[in-house]
Amino acid sequence: MKPLILAFETSCDETAVAVVQGTEALSNVLASQVDLHARFGGVVPEVAARAHVEAIRSLTHQALNEAGIHPADLDGVGATAGPGLVGALLVGHSFAKATAWARQLPFVGIDHMEGHLMAPLLQFEEFQPPVVSLLASGGHSQIVHVGEWGEYRVMGSTIDDAAGEAFDKLARVMGLGFPGGPALDIASEGGDPAAVAFPRALPDRPFDFSFSGLKTAVVTYIEKTRARGDLPPLADVAASVQEAIVDVLVDKTFNAVDETGARVVGGGGGVLANRRLRHRFAEEADKREVTLAIPDPILCTDNAAMIGVAAAHWLSTGRITDWAENVNPGLALGQPLI
Ligand code: KG4
Ligand code: ZN
Repeated sequence: MKPLILAFETSCDETAVAVVQGTEALSNVLASQVDLHARFGGVVPEVAARAHVEAIRSLTHQALNEAGIHPADLDGVGATAGPGLVGALLVGHSFAKATAWARQLPFVGIDHMEGHLMAPLLQFEEFQPPVVSLLASGGHSQIVHVGEWGEYRVMGSTIDDAAGEAFDKLARVMGLGFPGGPALDIASEGGDPAAVAFPRALPDRPFDFSFSGLKTAVVTYIEKTRARGDLPPLADVAASVQEAIVDVLVDKTFNAVDETGARVVGGGGGVLANRRLRHRFAEEADKREVTLAIPDPILCTDNAAMIGVAAAHWLSTGRITDWAENVNPGLALGQPLI
């Protein structure tokens, strides 16, 4: 069975709607709020929730039109239930539940991080458990072993900042603006990743991350070299900062691949859109002859197709969400939705 799903994602600053059939995205549309939040240097929760309300109805029409689907054809509706900003989550979740209720369709609430975890299904047939996956976004950094769908062993995670948060904070320190990840990615172009040796944290913990020390190291380095008047070119500093994050993400993910013997390695979350990280993942996967399943950048950053593919999977196994269930801003991977 390949259920036809209308899916919503509104956990942070993207309003996203998609139509997914089984593992195929028939449409995947998105209204980014980046410009609204840029002047504040970060996402303002109230502004985000309001912008979701304004965008969601027309985006839903657009998603259905692009897919060539009439709501009467749908088999179910899915939406992100958490984690995320409560007001933002409530907009998509309530809109989705109301749509499902009005058409008497089953509703499936989805964990946002499980959405990132399952996103490679949209592009790779080989992406089937057992797999190891790196999830790295603005709020989370985790290495997950998937024994079966729903059976998630978090092998490692960050003990302080998430990788995306580190990119965002470091970009701010370097005056690169918001959102920091893409800005650092661009600023590093043509730079030498070995120009400055920034620290790699937690060498003794094979699967865990720590990024807060890196920020201190970068601030100190910039202040000192600037005071001496010999700050190297921005591209070299950016490439070196990026390499310090990428190195640990790659090393520790492949530690987990080696430890578990997984033959497939996946990835999801905005940080997996990073070009250097993708390149290094490809190199390491090649070396070990394991299958790499990191989807296109547009499916790594927040989108609704990943929520749709997860909802289609769970609906086809008969797992649907009770109408009484609500959003859960603090949802953790593998835990029940409420
Ligand atoms: O998954 P995502 O879109 O939203 C959350 O669930 O948080 O991830 C957003 C994070 C941000 O921290 C952003 O700076 C980072 O992903 N990001 C990147 C890149 N594109 C987005 N980080 C590094 N390089 C990129 N190209
Ligand atoms: Zn995300």
